[in-house]
Amino acid sequence: MTLLAAATAVRENAYAPYSRFKVGAAIKGVSGTIYTGCNVENVAYPEGTCAEAGAIAAMVAAGETRLTEVCVIADSPSPVPPCGGCRQKLAEFGDPSVVVTLCTTDGATKVTSIADLLPGVFTLAHMDRA
Ligand code: THU
Repeated sequence: MTLLAAATAVRENAYAPYSRFKVGAAIKGVSGTIYTGCNVENVAYPEGTCAEAGAIAAMVAAGETRLTEVCVIADSPSPVPPCGGCRQKLAEFGDPSVVVTLCTTDGATKVTSIADLLPGVFTLAHMDRA
């Protein structure tokens, strides 16, 4: 299964009764295994979680901590960009060069990278004096 197919399939399971904006994410671990996640909202809005966070949690729960590719899909007018928090989460587990493919359900895609999504990323090196 391709990352796009996996992201498209898991998007169907998104729980988004408040925004009605379903998102699916698929990431590939270094092992080659694909992990998926969808957004899971809550009536207490800040408790909701993004699709990317769900996919990362699935990867870590399976025992992997490095990702090599990312795909995100939503029914948006233009390829859906990960939120700021998800950009930092992706940067935790993927190299700056990791390719991130952003998609719409009607077939538009934008190919970018973790580095392009999060210039000036906060890293462990910034805590060197701590
Ligand atoms: N959302 C994601 O799951 N990933 C993104 O990259 C953008 C936003 C979700 C969060 C919320 O459930 C809904 O989309 C609207 O913000």
